[in-house]
Amino acid sequence: MDTGTDTEPETTDAPTFPPGFCWGVATSAYQIEGAWDADGKGPSTWDVLSHRPGGLADGATGDVACDHYHRLDEDLELMARLGVTSYRFSVSWPRVRPTGRGPWNPHGLAFYDRLVDGLLARHIDPMLTLYHWDHPQALEDDGGWLNRDTAERFAEYAEGIAARLGDRVHRWITINEPLSVVHAAMNGSSRLDGPLRQHALAMAHHLLLAHGLAAQRLRGLTGRGRRMEVGIALNLSGMTPASGRYADVEAAGRAEAYEDRLFLDPLLHGRYPRVEGIPVVRCDPADNTVIAAPLDFLGVNWYAPARVAAAPSEPFGYTRTPLPDTAANMLGWPIVPAAFGGLLRWLRAQYPDLPPVHITENGMPLPDEVDAGGAVRDEERIGYLRGCLVQLRAAIDAGLDVRGYHVWSLLDNLEWEHGYRPRFGLVHVDFTTLERTPKASFEWYRRLIAAQSTGEGPPCHG
Ligand code: FCB
Repeated sequence: MDTGTDTEPETTDAPTFPPGFCWGVATSAYQIEGAWDADGKGPSTWDVLSHRPGGLADGATGDVACDHYHRLDEDLELMARLGVTSYRFSVSWPRVRPTGRGPWNPHGLAFYDRLVDGLLARHIDPMLTLYHWDHPQALEDDGGWLNRDTAERFAEYAEGIAARLGDRVHRWITINEPLSVVHAAMNGSSRLDGPLRQHALAMAHHLLLAHGLAAQRLRGLTGRGRRMEVGIALNLSGMTPASGRYADVEAAGRAEAYEDRLFLDPLLHGRYPRVEGIPVVRCDPADNTVIAAPLDFLGVNWYAPARVAAAPSEPFGYTRTPLPDTAANMLGWPIVPAAFGGLLRWLRAQYPDLPPVHITENGMPLPDEVDAGGAVRDEERIGYLRGCLVQLRAAIDAGLDVRGYHVWSLLDNLEWEHGYRPRFGLVHVDFTTLERTPKASFEWYRRLIAAQSTGEGPPCHG
């Protein structure tokens, strides 16, 4: 591995972390793989959506994306060069089980075998996400997450993947950002009132149930050389009221209940939050027990805080408002790394029995271009990531048990409905030639990882 460390000591202006801390990057299948119908893969919901007129921005699709499916070795080499000890990726459900309930696809499974083996050969620990939003269209046709049966199909899928890869993969994330799944499904409906609000909450419940049922199956495979650590990745913001007015403070409470606590409370406290203005989630009490089985770790995706004002005409009675005097990134998210610390403090205060935390995503979108000299100067991204790491280190010093950190993302990729313009990668991708060019942030992160003390034991034992 070429880290350039042989002669010169590494220097970095970012903090150092405890030995064994996992340093990683994150991606997801639909956003990077391409090969949308190769080797027996079935269509996913995102394939179908992106192929529809007016589907994604600029007519983007994930048909080719970064073509990671065919460029796996090159991307593995990039990670080895970066020196990460952990790689968070997702399995495309329709690649391995095209209709979600029929036969398995041996070619799809073979791809993930190669990926996992390629990581282990480079001493990179795989962190596998089972569901990063791209489920088989065949399941969507039967109601998708509004249908409780999807949770059962998900548990089957989890068990199948774990039976295949569980001898080599120890860290499992069931579902990425269930809240975003609910929001994406509800897009296109301008209002979430009446039955739609109930639908949102029913979907949330089925996603949590899917997590719980899958976790049971994964844990059932522990032993015989398998060590299964199971977590879920939640997108949390941290809410601040727009003013001290009662209405805004109350609105922030509702936003917190619907966005931050809707998943945390059932997972960690065994019950849904009860807040005036948010309908009650009705479910079989036995489901709550399945959902609340102890997590081995909690994945936290964090990008920006939210400032909330009362808005009685909105479905849950609140709206997000811009932070005064605060710059926003190209997706309109306020750039406030210091607020990461606030969210972590909130988490610890609200959930004293919190399991160990992994930061499963953190990053910044920029329009990055390769300059005439062949460089990509993304200093703003470096500043943002550094700021977030300072907050993370302070949270660890204050007692929060954090085991790892994953930059979103290794590569520029398909940013869902926004298409290819927002670039989050440490590596620039030219979407015409598919050429990869490491950015300044890649070099910065490489040096940061190289400067960490490795201590005793395996490089990443989070
Ligand atoms: C998160 C998603 C991830 C990526 C980042 C920017 O919400 O999990 O796939 O799109 O946002």
